[in-house]
Amino acid sequence: MKSNLDEMLISSIRNIPDYPKPGVMFRDITTLLGDARAFRRAIDELVHPYAGTKVEKIAGIEARGFILGGAIAHQLSAGFVPIRKKGKLPHDTVRIAYSLEYGLDEMEMHKDAVVPGEKVILVDDLIATGGTAEAAAKLLRQMGADIVAACFVIDLPDLGGRKKLEALDVPVRTLIAFE
Ligand code: PRP
Ligand code: ADE
Repeated sequence: MKSNLDEMLISSIRNIPDYPKPGVMFRDITTLLGDARAFRRAIDELVHPYAGTKVEKIAGIEARGFILGGAIAHQLSAGFVPIRKKGKLPHDTVRIAYSLEYGLDEMEMHKDAVVPGEKVILVDDLIATGGTAEAAAKLLRQMGADIVAACFVIDLPDLGGRKKLEALDVPVRTLIAFE
């Protein structure tokens, strides 16, 4: 049975069939972000296991991971690290290629964004195949980050992303799932 929280979050997300290509049901969190109560609850739920623990950086994945990650960084009094699509960051970067539910891309982070040994939480809106988050976790590890967890509002469990992160020994926290 779904909790009131699950129902509130699920009903705040807009479902768009066949976007960005036929066969994909796009889970659009802009409606959650625009709903003050849902946005606050989502952030509160994502951060509460880590309140009072040592977390030095939040790494947010472009684009929606920036919005959630910024709010989480503020709540945990942590710094924020952007993980961006290639070519967007101005200083020296590390880069990695990855595959998506609907394509291929490359992402980067600044080489000096994380100090080796820093405790980092990785944040994005959604985990599907896990290709994006797995690549981000590999970049963070390459720079010496100690990844405390990876947090997402939405899990698409049929696509197996959680298992990819768990295979890297990254604990995964998600709030709701769409089967
Ligand atoms: C979405 C989502 C995640 C990723 C998850 O971003 O915000 O970053 O897909 O998919 P995966 O688990 O299969 O890798 P998208 O690639 O659509 O980029 P955008 O945020 O720039 O729109
Ligand atoms: N990223 C990958 N799959 C997605 C989906 N179904 N909805 C929103 N973002 C996604």
